[in-house]
Amino acid sequence: MTMIDLTSKTLAELGAADEAGVAALFADVRCRFDEQVAIHSTDRESWKAFLVQWTGRKSGTLSQITDNWLKASPPELKRAVGQELNKLKAHVEAIIEEKRVQIEAVAEQSAQLRDKIDLSLPGIERPIGTRHVIRQTYEELERIFRSIGFSVVEGPEIETPYYNFEALNIPEHHPARDNMDTFYLEGSRTSHLLRTHTSPMQIRTMEKEKPPVRIVVPGKVYRRDNPDSTHGYMFHQIEGLAVDEDITFCDFKGTVEYFVREFLGPKAKTRLRPSYFPFTEPSAEVDATCHVCGGSGCRVCKFSGWIELFGAGMVDPAVYGFVKYDADKLSGFAFGMGVDRLAMMKYGISELPLLYQNDVRFLRQFP
Ligand code: PHE
Repeated sequence: MTMIDLTSKTLAELGAADEAGVAALFADVRCRFDEQVAIHSTDRESWKAFLVQWTGRKSGTLSQITDNWLKASPPELKRAVGQELNKLKAHVEAIIEEKRVQIEAVAEQSAQLRDKIDLSLPGIERPIGTRHVIRQTYEELERIFRSIGFSVVEGPEIETPYYNFEALNIPEHHPARDNMDTFYLEGSRTSHLLRTHTSPMQIRTMEKEKPPVRIVVPGKVYRRDNPDSTHGYMFHQIEGLAVDEDITFCDFKGTVEYFVREFLGPKAKTRLRPSYFPFTEPSAEVDATCHVCGGSGCRVCKFSGWIELFGAGMVDPAVYGFVKYDADKLSGFAFGMGVDRLAMMKYGISELPLLYQNDVRFLRQFP
């Protein structure tokens, strides 16, 4: 018989006609209780349900017994039923209290275990990234130029044709614009473009500052180039400009040689080759002895012993006219380096796209 069957019947229906019968019934109930305690006191949820089942006001076992056994008992048995019921209640309450204390102690213990901090455990290592190889190269370049008195300034990537071309002595139909085709922005009143080089910052700086000027300008530049292993639509440059009274070609050459030795090592030699830029006169390509063969000739330098590093030259006096500098008193030099190219050379990277694919197997090689 289930507990509900048992307690929903009256004593008469259960055949308990005397005190012994009553005592036997209560002994049975107590026995069932003890059995169930053991089963249900292991987890909180089933313990809650168990409490309701036994002590619930409406249909808990104890209430059922009160209603169906005690209240409905024949007068001569009432006393005996009352006593047995009190004993049962006392037993049930005592056991429940005992278990409650136990259950709480266990919960408390596991909470403590959870919260306990073991100070001897190694900490959680959070992997942090490293500076990108382009960033590292910039830092090296900036360090070198700072060490000889240049300061670092930055400028806008969105430029006007005036700063990107005209003020650099590149008029609208000048052929030098051919290899500097770029992206033009729609919808602006005066047309804007993505700068093709960092040279506009020569103009912006000289417009703002009186000479002497000694700056380097790191930054991104854009060109309408077809992507391949050495070209992309965006790349990085660092511009240099030094303008003062009495700056000579010797200062230019000395600065360039110092830079090459710092960047590529004390054995690197420098060579200047005639070149052309509308904003420098004379202009030069700066070459260095090949970093792979040291100058004896190999596949990397196409057996010439030399590698082209960057373009440079003495500032063309025409440029001073655009920034209201006195071309008769002032002179200076400028250079513009491709930073991706320098990084690829220095670290032996053969493919430009590797720099932008964010493949950690590549990036991890430059801790
Ligand atoms: N701006 C030129 C280029 O991007 C490089 C350069 C800068 C040459 C300064 C001379 C002087 O090709």
